[in-house]
Amino acid sequence: MTLFHTIAAFRAWREEVSGTVGFAPTMGNLHDGHIACLKSAQINSDHSVVSIFVNPTQFAPTDDFAKYPRTLEDDLKLLEANGCSAVFVPSVDEMYPLGATTKVIAGSMANGLEGDFRPGHFDGVATVCLKLFQVVQPSVVAFGNKDLQQLRVIEQMIRDFNMPLYLEAVPTCREASGLALSSRNRYLTPEAKVQASQLNIGLQDTLQLVLDGVSPHDSEAKTTTVLERHGWAVDYIAVRDAATFQAVTSETTELTVLGAARLDGVRLIDNITCLRA
Ligand code: PAF
Repeated sequence: MTLFHTIAAFRAWREEVSGTVGFAPTMGNLHDGHIACLKSAQINSDHSVVSIFVNPTQFAPTDDFAKYPRTLEDDLKLLEANGCSAVFVPSVDEMYPLGATTKVIAGSMANGLEGDFRPGHFDGVATVCLKLFQVVQPSVVAFGNKDLQQLRVIEQMIRDFNMPLYLEAVPTCREASGLALSSRNRYLTPEAKVQASQLNIGLQDTLQLVLDGVSPHDSEAKTTTVLERHGWAVDYIAVRDAATFQAVTSETTELTVLGAARLDGVRLIDNITCLRA
Protein backbone atom coordinates (compact mmCIF):
# COMPACT_ATOMS: atom_id res chain seq x y z
CA MET A 1 0.00 0.00 0.00
CA THR A 2 1.41 3.39 -0.96
CA LEU A 3 0.66 6.64 0.85
CA PHE A 4 0.47 9.96 -1.00
CA HIS A 5 0.16 13.46 0.38
CA THR A 6 0.37 15.48 -2.83
CA ILE A 7 -1.65 15.52 -6.03
CA ALA A 8 1.53 15.43 -8.11
CA ALA A 9 2.86 12.29 -6.39
CA PHE A 10 -0.51 10.56 -6.61
CA ARG A 11 -0.83 11.42 -10.31
CA ALA A 12 2.64 9.99 -11.02
CA TRP A 13 1.53 6.69 -9.41
CA ARG A 14 -1.80 6.76 -11.23
CA GLU A 15 -0.08 7.20 -14.60
CA GLU A 16 2.29 4.34 -13.85
CA VAL A 17 -0.26 1.70 -12.82
CA SER A 18 -2.28 0.16 -15.60
CA GLY A 19 -5.89 -0.91 -15.15
CA THR A 20 -8.97 0.42 -13.42
CA VAL A 21 -9.29 2.09 -10.03
CA GLY A 22 -12.11 1.71 -7.51
CA PHE A 23 -12.27 4.64 -5.10
CA ALA A 24 -13.75 5.17 -1.63
CA PRO A 25 -13.50 8.77 -0.39
CA THR A 26 -13.48 9.14 3.42
CA MET A 27 -12.74 11.61 6.17
CA GLY A 28 -10.85 8.98 8.14
CA ASN A 29 -11.57 7.53 11.59
CA LEU A 30 -12.35 4.40 9.68
CA HIS A 31 -14.76 1.69 10.81
CA ASP A 32 -16.35 -1.37 9.20
CA GLY A 33 -18.66 0.85 7.13
CA HIS A 34 -15.65 2.40 5.38
CA ILE A 35 -14.04 -1.00 4.91
CA ALA A 36 -17.27 -2.22 3.29
CA CYS A 37 -16.90 0.70 0.83
CA LEU A 38 -13.28 -0.25 0.17
CA LYS A 39 -14.29 -3.89 -0.43
CA SER A 40 -17.01 -2.76 -2.81
CA ALA A 41 -14.53 -0.52 -4.67
CA GLN A 42 -12.19 -3.48 -5.01
CA ILE A 43 -14.72 -5.65 -6.84
CA ASN A 44 -14.06 -5.46 -10.59
CA SER A 45 -11.22 -2.93 -10.13
CA ASP A 46 -7.51 -3.60 -10.61
CA HIS A 47 -6.55 -1.15 -7.86
CA SER A 48 -8.31 0.37 -4.89
CA VAL A 49 -7.78 3.88 -3.57
CA VAL A 50 -9.06 5.45 -0.35
CA SER A 51 -8.75 9.16 0.40
CA ILE A 52 -8.61 10.48 3.93
CA PHE A 53 -9.40 14.17 4.03
CA VAL A 54 -11.43 16.06 6.60
CA ASN A 55 -12.99 18.51 4.19
CA PRO A 56 -13.42 21.96 5.75
CA THR A 57 -15.86 23.21 3.10
CA GLN A 58 -18.60 20.80 4.17
CA PHE A 59 -18.59 21.95 7.80
CA ALA A 60 -20.52 25.00 9.01
CA PRO A 61 -18.57 27.43 11.22
CA THR A 62 -20.51 26.06 14.21
CA ASP A 63 -19.79 22.44 13.20
CA ASP A 64 -17.20 20.10 14.60
CA PHE A 65 -14.42 20.44 11.94
CA ALA A 66 -11.63 21.03 14.47
CA LYS A 67 -12.71 18.22 16.74
CA TYR A 68 -13.50 15.74 13.97
CA PRO A 69 -11.58 12.58 15.02
CA ARG A 70 -8.25 12.18 13.23
CA THR A 71 -6.78 8.70 13.64
CA LEU A 72 -4.43 8.38 10.67
CA GLU A 73 -2.09 5.72 12.04
CA ASP A 74 -4.91 3.31 12.90
CA ASP A 75 -6.67 4.09 9.61
CA LEU A 76 -3.58 3.22 7.57
CA LYS A 77 -3.13 -0.09 9.41
CA LEU A 78 -6.75 -1.00 8.74
CA LEU A 79 -6.49 -0.11 5.05
CA GLU A 80 -3.27 -2.05 4.63
CA ALA A 81 -4.81 -5.12 6.31
CA ASN A 82 -7.72 -4.88 3.86
CA GLY A 83 -5.66 -4.82 0.71
CA CYS A 84 -5.96 -1.15 -0.24
CA SER A 85 -3.54 -0.27 -3.06
CA ALA A 86 -3.05 3.44 -2.37
CA VAL A 87 -4.14 6.04 0.14
CA PHE A 88 -4.40 9.73 -0.67
CA VAL A 89 -4.09 11.99 2.39
CA PRO A 90 -3.81 15.59 1.17
CA SER A 91 -3.50 18.69 3.36
CA VAL A 92 -6.13 21.43 3.26
CA ASP A 93 -3.69 23.64 1.32
CA GLU A 94 -3.14 20.87 -1.24
CA MET A 95 -6.87 20.56 -1.89
CA TYR A 96 -7.73 24.25 -1.56
CA PRO A 97 -4.68 26.31 -2.51
CA LEU A 98 -4.92 30.07 -2.19
CA GLY A 99 -7.06 31.43 -5.02
CA ALA A 100 -9.02 28.22 -5.66
CA THR A 101 -12.52 29.64 -5.47
CA THR A 102 -14.57 27.59 -7.95
CA LYS A 103 -17.31 25.56 -6.26
CA VAL A 104 -19.92 23.00 -7.21
CA ILE A 105 -23.50 23.87 -6.34
CA ALA A 106 -25.13 20.56 -5.49
CA GLY A 107 -28.26 19.69 -7.48
CA SER A 108 -31.87 19.26 -6.40
CA MET A 109 -31.12 16.13 -4.37
CA ALA A 110 -29.48 18.45 -1.84
CA ASN A 111 -32.78 20.22 -1.14
CA GLY A 112 -34.55 19.55 2.14
CA LEU A 113 -33.61 17.18 4.98
CA GLU A 114 -29.84 17.56 5.61
CA GLY A 115 -29.83 20.44 3.14
CA ASP A 116 -32.16 22.40 5.46
CA PHE A 117 -30.23 21.64 8.61
CA ARG A 118 -26.72 21.96 7.13
CA PRO A 119 -26.86 24.79 4.56
CA GLY A 120 -23.98 24.59 2.10
CA HIS A 121 -22.92 21.16 3.33
CA PHE A 122 -23.65 19.34 0.08
CA ASP A 123 -21.96 22.03 -2.02
CA GLY A 124 -18.82 21.32 0.00
CA VAL A 125 -19.24 17.55 -0.39
CA ALA A 126 -19.85 17.80 -4.15
CA THR A 127 -16.92 20.18 -4.60
CA VAL A 128 -14.43 17.99 -2.78
CA CYS A 129 -15.70 14.82 -4.46
CA LEU A 130 -15.34 16.38 -7.90
CA LYS A 131 -11.79 17.44 -7.03
CA LEU A 132 -10.94 13.99 -5.64
CA PHE A 133 -12.43 12.23 -8.68
CA GLN A 134 -10.27 14.45 -10.91
CA VAL A 135 -7.16 13.41 -9.02
CA VAL A 136 -7.91 9.72 -8.51
CA GLN A 137 -9.49 9.08 -11.95
CA PRO A 138 -11.56 6.10 -10.77
CA SER A 139 -14.01 4.10 -12.83
CA VAL A 140 -15.94 3.00 -9.74
CA VAL A 141 -16.72 5.07 -6.63
CA ALA A 142 -18.24 3.59 -3.48
CA PHE A 143 -20.50 5.54 -1.12
CA GLY A 144 -22.35 4.29 1.95
CA ASN A 145 -26.13 4.12 2.01
CA LYS A 146 -26.04 5.52 5.53
CA ASP A 147 -25.55 9.01 4.10
CA LEU A 148 -28.30 8.40 1.56
CA GLN A 149 -28.85 12.02 0.61
CA GLN A 150 -25.10 12.48 0.07
CA LEU A 151 -25.11 9.39 -2.15
CA ARG A 152 -28.00 10.82 -4.20
CA VAL A 153 -26.24 14.19 -4.52
CA ILE A 154 -23.11 12.50 -5.86
CA GLU A 155 -25.14 10.23 -8.14
CA GLN A 156 -26.87 13.33 -9.55
CA MET A 157 -23.55 15.14 -10.03
CA ILE A 158 -22.09 12.14 -11.87
CA ARG A 159 -25.13 12.08 -14.15
CA ASP A 160 -25.39 15.84 -14.66
CA PHE A 161 -21.68 16.23 -15.42
CA ASN A 162 -21.52 13.10 -17.64
CA MET A 163 -18.75 11.60 -15.56
CA PRO A 164 -17.62 8.16 -16.77
CA LEU A 165 -18.13 6.68 -13.33
CA TYR A 166 -20.11 3.85 -11.81
CA LEU A 167 -21.41 4.51 -8.28
CA GLU A 168 -21.63 1.56 -5.89
CA ALA A 169 -24.18 2.05 -3.09
CA VAL A 170 -22.87 0.18 -0.07
CA PRO A 171 -25.32 -1.16 2.54
CA THR A 172 -25.15 0.42 5.99
CA CYS A 173 -23.08 -1.46 8.57
CA ARG A 174 -24.76 -1.70 11.95
CA GLU A 175 -24.05 -2.72 15.52
CA ALA A 176 -26.04 -5.74 16.73
CA SER A 177 -28.46 -3.22 18.32
CA GLY A 178 -29.24 -1.75 14.90
CA LEU A 179 -27.23 1.44 15.52
CA ALA A 180 -25.64 2.53 12.22
CA LEU A 181 -21.84 2.72 12.38
CA SER A 182 -20.64 6.31 12.34
CA SER A 183 -17.53 8.21 13.36
CA ARG A 184 -19.80 10.26 15.61
CA ASN A 185 -20.74 7.22 17.72
CA ARG A 186 -17.45 7.66 19.56
CA TYR A 187 -18.90 10.80 21.19
CA LEU A 188 -21.72 8.80 22.77
CA THR A 189 -21.40 7.77 26.42
CA PRO A 190 -21.83 3.99 26.98
CA GLU A 191 -25.39 4.65 28.22
CA ALA A 192 -26.23 6.87 25.25
CA LYS A 193 -24.79 4.26 22.88
CA VAL A 194 -27.26 1.70 24.22
CA GLN A 195 -30.08 4.22 23.81
CA ALA A 196 -28.92 5.28 20.33
CA SER A 197 -30.50 2.25 18.65
CA GLN A 198 -33.86 3.97 19.33
CA LEU A 199 -33.33 6.03 16.17
CA ASN A 200 -33.20 2.94 13.96
CA ILE A 201 -36.12 1.38 15.83
CA GLY A 202 -38.06 4.63 15.30
CA LEU A 203 -37.41 4.48 11.55
CA GLN A 204 -38.60 0.89 11.41
CA ASP A 205 -41.73 1.75 13.41
CA THR A 206 -42.43 4.65 11.04
CA LEU A 207 -42.10 2.39 8.02
CA GLN A 208 -44.39 -0.20 9.61
CA LEU A 209 -47.03 2.46 10.30
CA VAL A 210 -46.94 3.61 6.68
CA LEU A 211 -47.18 0.02 5.44
CA ASP A 212 -50.16 -0.41 7.79
CA GLY A 213 -51.89 2.51 6.07
CA VAL A 214 -51.10 5.40 8.45
CA SER A 215 -50.25 8.60 6.56
CA PRO A 216 -46.55 9.51 6.25
CA HIS A 217 -47.22 12.75 8.16
CA ASP A 218 -48.87 11.00 11.12
CA SER A 219 -46.24 8.23 11.13
CA GLU A 220 -43.41 10.79 11.20
CA ALA A 221 -45.16 12.75 13.97
CA LYS A 222 -45.69 9.65 16.09
CA THR A 223 -42.03 8.61 15.91
CA THR A 224 -40.88 12.17 16.60
CA THR A 225 -43.01 12.25 19.75
CA VAL A 226 -41.70 8.87 20.95
CA LEU A 227 -38.07 9.88 20.39
CA GLU A 228 -38.58 13.25 22.09
CA ARG A 229 -40.13 11.47 25.06
CA HIS A 230 -36.88 9.49 25.33
CA GLY A 231 -34.82 12.70 25.36
CA TRP A 232 -33.91 13.03 21.67
CA ALA A 233 -33.94 16.42 19.90
CA VAL A 234 -35.36 15.48 16.50
CA ASP A 235 -34.37 17.42 13.37
CA TYR A 236 -36.56 15.32 11.09
CA ILE A 237 -38.18 11.97 10.55
CA ALA A 238 -39.19 11.84 6.90
CA VAL A 239 -40.92 9.29 4.71
CA ARG A 240 -39.88 9.76 1.10
CA ASP A 241 -39.88 8.16 -2.32
CA ALA A 242 -36.43 6.54 -2.41
CA ALA A 243 -35.85 7.44 -6.08
CA THR A 244 -36.93 11.09 -6.07
CA PHE A 245 -36.57 12.03 -2.40
CA GLN A 246 -39.94 13.72 -2.78
CA ALA A 247 -43.13 12.89 -0.91
CA VAL A 248 -44.51 9.41 -1.52
CA THR A 249 -46.98 9.22 -4.42
CA SER A 250 -48.98 6.43 -6.07
CA GLU A 251 -45.98 6.02 -8.43
CA THR A 252 -43.58 5.29 -5.57
CA THR A 253 -42.07 1.82 -5.84
CA GLU A 254 -39.49 2.14 -3.07
CA LEU A 255 -39.94 3.93 0.22
CA THR A 256 -37.26 5.37 2.43
CA VAL A 257 -37.55 6.66 5.96
CA LEU A 258 -34.80 9.04 6.96
CA GLY A 259 -34.06 10.48 10.35
CA ALA A 260 -31.70 12.92 12.01
CA ALA A 261 -31.74 13.55 15.73
CA ARG A 262 -29.46 14.53 18.60
CA LEU A 263 -28.90 12.43 21.67
CA ASP A 264 -26.87 14.11 24.42
CA GLY A 265 -25.81 16.70 21.81
CA VAL A 266 -24.50 14.06 19.37
CA ARG A 267 -26.23 14.32 16.00
CA LEU A 268 -26.95 10.95 14.39
CA ILE A 269 -28.54 10.19 11.03
CA ASP A 270 -29.91 6.97 9.63
CA ASN A 271 -32.33 5.66 7.01
CA ILE A 272 -34.06 2.47 5.97
CA THR A 273 -35.52 1.56 2.62
CA CYS A 274 -38.14 -0.92 1.50
CA LEU A 275 -39.83 -1.94 -1.73
CA ARG A 276 -43.55 -1.16 -1.84
CA ALA A 277 -45.70 -4.21 -2.42
O1 PAF B 1 -18.98 10.85 3.79
C1 PAF B 1 -17.88 11.40 3.97
O2 PAF B 1 -17.03 10.92 4.72
C2 PAF B 1 -17.59 12.73 3.28
O3 PAF B 1 -18.73 13.49 3.15
C3 PAF B 1 -16.88 12.55 1.92
C4 PAF B 1 -17.76 11.83 0.92
C5 PAF B 1 -15.58 11.81 2.11
C6 PAF B 1 -16.55 13.93 1.32
O4 PAF B 1 -15.73 14.66 2.17
